[in-house]
Amino acid sequence: MSDFEKKILDYKNKLNTTKDLEEVESIRAEIFGKNGFINLEFKKMGLLSVEEKKNIASNINKAKQELLEIFKIKSSEALDKDLNEKIKKEKIDVTLPEHEFKVGKVHPVSQVIDEISCIFSEIGFTVEEGPDVESEYNNFTALNTPENHPAKDMHDTFYLDENMKTLLRTHTSPVQVRTMLKGKPPFKIIAPGRTYRSDSDQTHTPMFHQLEGLHIDKDITMGHLKGCLNYFIKEFFEVEKIKMRFRPSHFPFTEPSAEVDIGYRVEKNKIIIGEGDQWLEILGCGMVHPNVLKNCKVDPKKYQGFAFGIGIDRLAMLKYGINDLRSFFDCDYRWLNHYGFDPLDVPTNYRGLSK
Ligand code: PHE
Repeated sequence: MSDFEKKILDYKNKLNTTKDLEEVESIRAEIFGKNGFINLEFKKMGLLSVEEKKNIASNINKAKQELLEIFKIKSSEALDKDLNEKIKKEKIDVTLPEHEFKVGKVHPVSQVIDEISCIFSEIGFTVEEGPDVESEYNNFTALNTPENHPAKDMHDTFYLDENMKTLLRTHTSPVQVRTMLKGKPPFKIIAPGRTYRSDSDQTHTPMFHQLEGLHIDKDITMGHLKGCLNYFIKEFFEVEKIKMRFRPSHFPFTEPSAEVDIGYRVEKNKIIIGEGDQWLEILGCGMVHPNVLKNCKVDPKKYQGFAFGIGIDRLAMLKYGINDLRSFFDCDYRWLNHYGFDPLDVPTNYRGLSK
């Protein structure tokens, strides 16, 4: 066996015993690299006769082909092995708890909407929705709002056409109309959603959130309204006792109408809800006006009930100590990270709303 043949045999043996991709590649460089075995063998032929050159070159080429064949197989074997190891290492155990994958936070407004829906669903309210773009009729006329009512003023309402027939709803009350027109009494619904008014300062933003409530049945009275709101506010602020005051007010779609304040005091820069002698307005309410019932094909001689409209953002500010309403809608990730809620911590009645 010539030295050349011995060397080739060595390489073949070495290759056959390895399964490691790195080693295969290093052997490949040793043989086929610029100064590798094959090139050196070709260089050695320089001084030989033509006949000898032919012979040796054909030997080298034969060996080269054989080795290339082996490399092909070895590389793919080693690649498979590498891949299998990688897959094994990266295998995800889907039964592991997921708390390492928390991303993002739930916005306080979404959290409060979930909390409120929980509270009202406990006493039999279902959730309705209506569109942000409303007709003038549903937003005002059906709700017994006269042609010259100040709420219809261009300064407050965002109209979407020249004829002032389409607008961005200024409150969630049009959902009362939609609900009553599409069904039959009794009705017991809440409707959270976005509302719009042309207004902007520390406690007003052009877009804000309201929650409408409507309960229509045969014997519903103002007493039910008071009981319902008292229950809601206690549950929402997670307190035992609440100081609540009904102030006479006016809305075209309710008669009588009231605004509700809750008592609070400030202690060390913190708002304590339910005690103290300061008052904060949080909602408007009243007994649904007979004209509204008539407009919605409900017989006011048989049915009556109450409605209320709560400012959701205001509730969120109070409960979670946020003092500028505008910051809710800045889309500042740092703010959301601070005030936001864990997406896995869904509010429930039995486990607690926010704790
Ligand atoms: N829609 C009223 C507002 O936006 C609130 C309200 C709703 C009052 C239902 C009474 C009954 O101010």
